[in-house]
Amino acid sequence: MTTKIRKRLSSGEKTLDKMLGGGFIEGSATLVSGAPGVGKTTLGLQFLCAGAAKGEPGVLVTFEEFPATLIRDAQQLGWDLQQLQSDGLLRILFTSPDVFLSSLQEPDSPLAETIRTMAPTRAVVDSVTQFTRTTEDPLKLRAIHNSLINAFKREGITSLLLAEDAHITHTETGTVASLPYVVDSVLLMRYVEVDSAMRRALTILKMRGSRHAKEIRGYTIASGGLQMQEPFENIRGLLSGITQRVG
Ligand SMILES: Nc1ncnc2c1ncn2[C@@H]1O[C@H](COP(=O)(O)OP(=O)(O)O)[C@@H](O)[C@H]1O
Ligand SMILES: [Mg+2]
Repeated sequence: MTTKIRKRLSSGEKTLDKMLGGGFIEGSATLVSGAPGVGKTTLGLQFLCAGAAKGEPGVLVTFEEFPATLIRDAQQLGWDLQQLQSDGLLRILFTSPDVFLSSLQEPDSPLAETIRTMAPTRAVVDSVTQFTRTTEDPLKLRAIHNSLINAFKREGITSLLLAEDAHITHTETGTVASLPYVVDSVLLMRYVEVDSAMRRALTILKMRGSRHAKEIRGYTIASGGLQMQEPFENIRGLLSGITQRVG
């Protein structure tokens, strides 16, 4: 039996790539779940900018932030989104979940047009939590998630789906409950309290078809985006947010 070696796409962070067994698997969909301000949008931009740096175009579908705000915030992180847009390496689609969903199947939707004209290899949706506003039916929501993921998979696009986690230091994913099942991979970003200080931590919960690191690593956010630190050692209960030193 031969195993097809699948291409890996860099996250833009070396250590995270190693944790992912080399990077995100081409054509896979990854759920990135975390509380507000933890760094999901930053990671999404880092992923898109890493692609753009290699000449791989990307698309950002955002329901959250106006392009002007996004461009300004990205500038603080050292990324010139306007330049990337004019170079044809980035497309920002600022829309509403309803409009986006109703146009998803249409050949002349902004996403379809972007796929046709720019052939993006990477996509970020910020955030899929907004789809919960469009329906209260969990089956419909699951169908929405599937059609979104499939729209990217059909084109071989590697996607990050950002999800807002209402709980600041909890592991429950609440309203996006079905998403962890329909995506290939799940990254958790969390605020954790360690030695009476709030830190940020990331772990890979699942990654279909790949080995991956099981550790929980702290990270900082600065110019250039996320920067992973050493794994936490001798600390228990990180994902619950209530930690205890052991040993
Ligand atoms: N240039 C920067 N230097 C340091 N930290 C930054 C910088 N830009 C943003 N941050 C941090 O990143 C956080 C926002 O991250 P963001 O990706 O918007 O979070 P999320 O999308 O998960 O809500 C801010 O709370 C801020 O602490
Ligand atoms: Mg955000």
